[in-house]
Amino acid sequence: MQNGSRKLLIIGNWKMHTTGAQATGLAKEIALGVGPRVDIQVVLCPPFTVLEGVSQVLSGSTVQLGAQNLYPGPMGAVTGEVCAEMLKAVYCAYVLVGHSERRVLLREPDELINQKIHTALENRIKPVLCIGEPLEVRDSGNTWPFLQTQLERALDKVPQDLIENVVIAYEPLWAIGSGQPSSPDGAQAVHAQIRQFIDTFSSSAAKLRILYGGSVKPENAQQLLAQPDIDGLLVGGASLKAKSFLDIIG
Ligand code: PGA
Repeated sequence: MQNGSRKLLIIGNWKMHTTGAQATGLAKEIALGVGPRVDIQVVLCPPFTVLEGVSQVLSGSTVQLGAQNLYPGPMGAVTGEVCAEMLKAVYCAYVLVGHSERRVLLREPDELINQKIHTALENRIKPVLCIGEPLEVRDSGNTWPFLQTQLERALDKVPQDLIENVVIAYEPLWAIGSGQPSSPDGAQAVHAQIRQFIDTFSSSAAKLRILYGGSVKPENAQQLLAQPDIDGLLVGGASLKAKSFLDIIG
């Protein structure tokens, strides 16, 4: 499955769920279900404590590993953080950056998110930049200016030829965990705007993958994926059960 030259990308964000055997068991079931498929890229983002175990389960499978965060600096004296070198040691190919739960609960600012994007790219880990507007911004009709500011700040000074290594995930805050996803048309309109904006400064806009996230379920996944500018999905709750995640992958 492709959108033009863009291979569909389905990412499971396990958030702060799973411990040891639960995580490796879930990863095993998913890897088995995905099998040898190469028409679609599946990525799992478990918590740090189980990255190594899940990495071992996924080795030799087509499913890739991602982390949920990274610290924007080299290995060193930073208590409680995890650096790119550590993620590479367990074969993380992707890292989520700027998820709204971190922006809101931990007050992560755009400047830090920008530094994380640079660090990930320098280490050849693909950053998945999460952006999205809160309900009050949507209701006041300011979705696009809000998203544009998030994009400008997060992508500040990213060389235009590296933009194709960034993945953007549009996750409206009102849709995350609410059971109220964006309509496929509504999400498509925002995704097209994001691509147009990237096109104003990078020649790789056509190669950039833009994912939708927020209450993705087996019942709505295919309609979302059918949109021309939706290149994949970032799935939270529904990625914690192998069956629902595999049904989303289709
Ligand atoms: P959800 O979360 O699928 O549970 O709505 C998506 C996300 O926060 O990435």
